[in-house]
Amino acid sequence: MATIAPSTQPAPADDCNRFRPTLHFTPKSNWINDPNGLVYFAGEWHLFFQYNPFGTRWGHMHWGHAVSTDLIHWEELPIAIAEENDHMIFSGSCVVDWFNTSGLGDGTNPPLIALYTDHTEPRADAPQHQTQCLAYSHDKGRNWTKYGGNPLLDEGREHFRDPKVFWHAPSARWIMLLVRSAENFACIYQSSNLIDWDYSSKFGPAGADGHLWECPDLFELPIDGSDETRWVLKVDLFTVGGEKRSACLLYFGQFDGKTFLPDLDAEGQPRWHYADAGSDFYAAISWSDIPPDDGRRIWIGWMNCHHYAPETPTGAWRGAMTLPRALGLRRIGDRLRLIQQPVREAEAKMTPVTALCPVNVGAQRIDLRCKQPQDGSVDIDLHWPQGYRLGFGYNAAENAYYIKRSASGSLIGHESFQEYFRAERFVDGSPLTLSAIIDSCTLELFCDDGAQVFSHLFFPPLGTPELTIHAPDDMELKLSRCACKI
Ligand code: FRU
Repeated sequence: MATIAPSTQPAPADDCNRFRPTLHFTPKSNWINDPNGLVYFAGEWHLFFQYNPFGTRWGHMHWGHAVSTDLIHWEELPIAIAEENDHMIFSGSCVVDWFNTSGLGDGTNPPLIALYTDHTEPRADAPQHQTQCLAYSHDKGRNWTKYGGNPLLDEGREHFRDPKVFWHAPSARWIMLLVRSAENFACIYQSSNLIDWDYSSKFGPAGADGHLWECPDLFELPIDGSDETRWVLKVDLFTVGGEKRSACLLYFGQFDGKTFLPDLDAEGQPRWHYADAGSDFYAAISWSDIPPDDGRRIWIGWMNCHHYAPETPTGAWRGAMTLPRALGLRRIGDRLRLIQQPVREAEAKMTPVTALCPVNVGAQRIDLRCKQPQDGSVDIDLHWPQGYRLGFGYNAAENAYYIKRSASGSLIGHESFQEYFRAERFVDGSPLTLSAIIDSCTLELFCDDGAQVFSHLFFPPLGTPELTIHAPDDMELKLSRCACKI
């Protein structure tokens, strides 16, 4: 009789669930990228997304669909808007047309209106072509009809995409942001009926050098502790400088319904900062039509990076969303910062525990509070017996938070899989707080209550890591751990 050696690790999860997070949205199978069409309607949070129903690589883009009543449990529904005759359905947004300005309602309920980019690949006789199109739904986003008068906007362009639409009450107009990606600028259009659009202005290039602006958003946020507000314009940059990585850029300013006027720095350039200091936060957009009595601005991003996404070793599904994050603005010193925190619905799922949980089994949070950050560095190390590790913490000499994923598992050595990340600490004094949510292959690190955030994928071995903390002996530290039950 053969003897079977006892395994030192839990049996590998089946391929379909390999590295699958629990608290983060993932598709049942196949490839996803950008969140699309985020809208709240009739008690449901809708999450549409770029989806390839035919495989685990980018291609044949459709809008996939999921709904949730709490932003945490997602039910994946059939495809919402499908590719047809080689016309792919690229990224875009949804709104509720409460007053039937489009005339596309059914006479009873307000229609949901989706604005998306129609994309055709280059052919021997024609270049790539992108136009803006509309689809509408009368049954809470389950079935969609493509508008007969599509396209709404066709400027004969190759790179003209990702419409983000919202209602601007002061000018009583619908506003649409689009990107002329290859030229690194965003265009602003306006409309009274969601169908006929007039060009208003442009913004960009500005901020980090790089190639291809994508997925814009524009929204107003209150500044903590004041009566003031600021408009936040966000775009993604597909390739930053000459490096093989992407980023999400933010600008602050004023918006009058036609033009975005950025706040300027001492050199007269638009002030900007990265929304996320990590590698895996892309194409985020915010939800439309969140009820006023909720009052939050919430966004979600694709938790991946185009430069290595096709190689992520997740088996039959590929691509996850970040946690939905509530947004705020805070003045820190002389600058404004976007503050991001996991939505309270995620917090509510956390219960205190005394030890770490196995990675790949459920989500967990590690919270660290240091009373005197000026006294030295704090290094938190998760390590597995086989020599794998994931580090994060605060480097006092650089006054910066950091992440180190140089021994964190698969993808190490991939030319785009950067291993070390840092971001300056702007918050003065104490305490310093670090809150890391680890959910299988995802790590989101919220520093000083979300004044800096890092989103990272890592592909660790199965099993329970050990936790080591290095800090000066006399530093006052408080460590707590939570596990997440959903
Ligand atoms: C960003 C993006 C968008 C485009 C979509 C196509 O990830 O390139 O600009 O609409 O993905 O899937």
